[in-house]
Amino acid sequence: MTIKTLTGLLDKMWVDYININPLAKKIRDVLMNEGEEIQNDHIALRTFNHPRVTIDVIAKPFLDSGYKYMGDYQFPEKKLYAKHFEHADKTLPKIFISELKLEEFSASLRETINTLISQIPAGMEHQFDFTSIGRPWIVSTKTYNDLLKESDYAAWVSAFGYRPNHFTVFINVLKKFSDISFLNTYLKDKGYKLNSSGGEIKGSKDVCLEQSSTLANNIEVEFSDGKLSIPACYYEFAKRYPMKNGELYQGFVAASADKIFESTSRGQ
Ligand code: NI
Repeated sequence: MTIKTLTGLLDKMWVDYININPLAKKIRDVLMNEGEEIQNDHIALRTFNHPRVTIDVIAKPFLDSGYKYMGDYQFPEKKLYAKHFEHADKTLPKIFISELKLEEFSASLRETINTLISQIPAGMEHQFDFTSIGRPWIVSTKTYNDLLKESDYAAWVSAFGYRPNHFTVFINVLKKFSDISFLNTYLKDKGYKLNSSGGEIKGSKDVCLEQSSTLANNIEVEFSDGKLSIPACYYEFAKRYPMKNGELYQGFVAASADKIFESTSRGQ
């Protein structure tokens, strides 16, 4: 079935996401059983700054559906650049798209990524539902492991392709769980592991944004030459605070997101 509407696309992205991250569905169900209604703060997507798949290419279906560019971010340590997009309908999730700056990596990494991208069928990157298409190339465990030596992020995209890296629960609208420490404790009591890189809560009231996330669960992924059990996606939680002008802060905090990116690292 061809997806042509924003709602259709967001639904497809969610279904794909919980398919490889069943933990997110479980946590969502747990919160709903507690009487909560879930609203997403943002959905995060990953790509490369290769001309065929830049942030702007990936963002097109969202821009065509009423989203507007609202801000950009640099992550020098991770060699990433990102933009965020918002819809006039504030109940719709913001879209956060990052791209890996290929020119800052080795010739061999660039060559590998160019080879993967050259396998994307012509025009597929302009398909409305490209952000839920999955992996549009064939890749080996060797390539994945080689990429991993230079960048977790590059390896993740090589294995999973185009699909949400994470959804984020907007906890301001929760009734019982609008306090992030309380939510974290509740989730840990239920046995969920949280990303503790840089502390469980990234950010603070001072920067108008607090975030926490689960660690990515490992799933078995099929490569051209075998299978690997590797970190997939994670579930994030965000609490926003008003700025001096009284409006709720809608942006992202680079220092916090930097640590959140590590939720798909193998180290933890
Ligand atoms: Ni996020």
